[in-house]
Amino acid sequence: MPKVLICYYSRSGNTKAMAYMIADGIRSADVDVDVKKVADVKPADLLRYDGLVFGSPTYYGVCAAELKSLIDKSVKYHGKLCCKVGGAFASSANVGGGNETTVLQLLQAHLIHGMVIIGDSEGDHYGPVSIEKPNKRVEKDCKEYGKKIAWLVKKLSE
Ligand SMILES: Cc1cc2nc3c(=O)[nH]c(=O)nc-3n(C[C@H](O)[C@H](O)[C@H](O)COP(=O)(O)O)c2cc1C
Repeated sequence: MPKVLICYYSRSGNTKAMAYMIADGIRSADVDVDVKKVADVKPADLLRYDGLVFGSPTYYGVCAAELKSLIDKSVKYHGKLCCKVGGAFASSANVGGGNETTVLQLLQAHLIHGMVIIGDSEGDHYGPVSIEKPNKRVEKDCKEYGKKIAWLVKKLSE
């Protein structure tokens, strides 16, 4: 069975809550998922998954340094993450506070690894975003995003 890693950084729990909502969506589509804090993920772990979904709070319009550090260390496996599914999500304090730039920064790293990403024509276009604590809208979007990631992982594993 294909397996997805959701790797997140979270200080006050908003991004963490989103990670588990996305995991619910992935599981509901019969794809295995591990949810881990970035501190518990080694670069070599990334090789073991069919999909990698990264989540971060927005810090000055970009992701937390802890997540960027994992991305930078992943250079050791440059070329080896090719064609896995990539995804991203972020929380911020404000509308227009940079959550989308954070998501795009994470997706950009996935693309540089040669990974495959998917957008959304109706929900959050680049990946789920939340203003502080996720509300019902965010919960729905995260679950739908998880299903979409699972769908793509299954397609690419055929
Ligand atoms: C160092 C720092 C920088 C931040 N920068 C931004 C920012 O640029 N824009 C914004 O809207 N929120 C900013 N925030 C707020 C967090 O992104 C927001 O509270 C987020 O939901 C926290 O996620 P967490 O609960 O997963 O830790 C910042 C918070 C900190 C601590």
